[in-house]
Amino acid sequence: MKDEAMKKLRGKMENCKYGVIVHGEGNINAGMVLVGEAPGSKEVELGRPFVGQAGKNLDEFLKIIELERKEIYITNVVKTRPYRINSKTGRKNNRPPNKEELMFFKGRLHEELKLIGPALVVTLGNTALRAVTEEGSIAISDVHGRPYEKEGMGFTVFPLYHPAAVIYNRALRPVYLDDLDELKTYIKK
Ligand code: URA
Repeated sequence: MKDEAMKKLRGKMENCKYGVIVHGEGNINAGMVLVGEAPGSKEVELGRPFVGQAGKNLDEFLKIIELERKEIYITNVVKTRPYRINSKTGRKNNRPPNKEELMFFKGRLHEELKLIGPALVVTLGNTALRAVTEEGSIAISDVHGRPYEKEGMGFTVFPLYHPAAVIYNRALRPVYLDDLDELKTYIKK
């Protein structure tokens, strides 16, 4: 039943004008879903979310909270790789998703979450936090590291910084590790 519904939902994203789709993966009956921003080049190459460097960060994260990939469901808000062509090198560089991409994929993300029906959604970074809570001006710096509830949402959100932000800003690392500790305590309750 759920498998069929997931297939149907995925079918809706076939031949997407925004590019190659990288679907979510994992346990569709999981109590916890992890939502990132968008796939990068490695994710598109392998057709899986959070692989390559991002995957290494995620594995470290999961080790700390003592969970395995197969126990949860991992997905992204935007399911295609947002990029711009570097005029000097001609190569693709990642960029943040634009409004149009966010509008297109947000509805699909909510369908995906509704179908899985998790108790907890862990958002990584502002894009995921805003898309999941549907609050355009909520800021990760204000709400990270503790459960966030909103009437009618149907699940609790646990906002975390995006692991990539922690790489660019080393000062965030102790904060991020504290937040992971909070998350671990929360899920073991
Ligand atoms: N890879 C993903 O799949 N999502 C991100 O947000 C970053 C890297």
